[in-house]
Amino acid sequence: TEELQTLVLTILDAKGTIPNTKDLVASDNKEVDQLALLGALKSLSIADKEMVKYETIEEEIWVLTDEGNEIADKGSHEAKVFDAIPVGEEGIAISALREILGETAKIGQGKAFKNKWVIKRGDNLVRAVDSIIDQTRIDLEVIRSTGTHSDPKVLFELRKRKLCDKHKVISYSVSKGPKFSLTIEKQARDVTFEMLQSGEWKTANFKKYNFDALGIPPSGGHLHPLMKVREEFRQIFFEMGFEEMPTNKFVESSFWNFDSLFQPQQHPARDAHDTFFLKDPAICTQFPTEYLKRVKEVHSIGGYGSTGYGYDWKIEEAQKLILRTHTTAVSSFMLYNLAQQKEFKPVKYFSIDRVFRNETVDATHLAEFHQVEGVIADKGLTLGDLIGFMNTFFNKMGVKNLRFKPAYNPYTEPSMEIFSYHQGLGKWVEMGNSGMFRPEMLEPMGLDPEVRVIAWGLGYAYYSGLARTGQRSTSI
Ligand code: PHE
Repeated sequence: TEELQTLVLTILDAKGTIPNTKDLVASDNKEVDQLALLGALKSLSIADKEMVKYETIEEEIWVLTDEGNEIADKGSHEAKVFDAIPVGEEGIAISALREILGETAKIGQGKAFKNKWVIKRGDNLVRAVDSIIDQTRIDLEVIRSTGTHSDPKVLFELRKRKLCDKHKVISYSVSKGPKFSLTIEKQARDVTFEMLQSGEWKTANFKKYNFDALGIPPSGGHLHPLMKVREEFRQIFFEMGFEEMPTNKFVESSFWNFDSLFQPQQHPARDAHDTFFLKDPAICTQFPTEYLKRVKEVHSIGGYGSTGYGYDWKIEEAQKLILRTHTTAVSSFMLYNLAQQKEFKPVKYFSIDRVFRNETVDATHLAEFHQVEGVIADKGLTLGDLIGFMNTFFNKMGVKNLRFKPAYNPYTEPSMEIFSYHQGLGKWVEMGNSGMFRPEMLEPMGLDPEVRVIAWGLGYAYYSGLARTGQRSTSI
């Protein structure tokens, strides 16, 4: 642009105006690119510069197509046909003409007949006139050198034959602006250290701020590795038709975290060594009354075919607020809600969120980690469904080779730990914990005794810069 700016300024200085920039010739004798020129004109005419003024000129010009250029150079097909016929009565056999001219013979013949340049005698073509004027070629040459033709019919006709076409060209007329000068003063963008030292800043011509300019898009804003893993799991669940459970609260009551899950109040996990208890507020008093009663009963005296634990269940213990130790607290709440529906509908739920356990922090243990949990409720589900489902689910994550080992949870029976062979570590690693929820958990909620619920959970955390999957050492 600087070169173009200088070009415009020197011509204006010498001639006063540039009527049409399409006639400009650059220093290398090439045509000036009008778009690049517009950039130069814009920067010479901006509000605080006003060195030049310019107006846009829009013109239509006619240009030849490749075929049009070819004809303008070498003549029309019909002229080539005429030229190929020897002078004399004999003429040339049509087949021979074909051999010499190829396609051109076919295209040119018709026109040559129409122009009465040739006649047919037997199988031969013979010249009908002594000489011809190749008007097509002449017209195309005119268009090529002037950009148009005085006879609009000719333009129309040649365009129909795809020998020329209309183009729109934009150029500019330029004149001197109120602040015209031959030298472009360089505008300073920033106040520099040198400017401050030399005092140049006092007189320097600063470029105006453009507050409308768009900013550079920030290169930051990436998903945290934990969130990436979470996104991968979510996609798998959605693919398999699961609905996401609302897990947006870290504080839970012991009731939903433990009691509703048939976890006895003396269970070691309910100890301050394993669980974070809240000081303020310390308790919650809002529970579904009837359900709470049934939970108390099943713990203390049993029911639904169970003898219960036979201990004195205390509401005070259930009221204690804690940081949830597993997302199964949410699953339990969701299943209770499902049980309140008039008619049972099978469901597939999942959640992925943070849980908290009071652990001594070391290289592989944090006091918080993420759990991925899945729950399927339907009539007639079996342990086989759980195993089959686990295989599909873990396969989608790229984990093959699963093994299941009997385990214990207060709220599932049977229960299984899920192991997978870790190539890197060369050993079987525990991935998760699973089972079929017990009747002592489901029936007090009001669920139909025919309904079976299979569920599993797995943990992952962010240790030493990596999101790692694998269940914690202590299951709750
Ligand atoms: N809540 C269990 C844990 O934290 C995982 C689990 C979920 C087990 C659902 C069985 C059923 O280890």
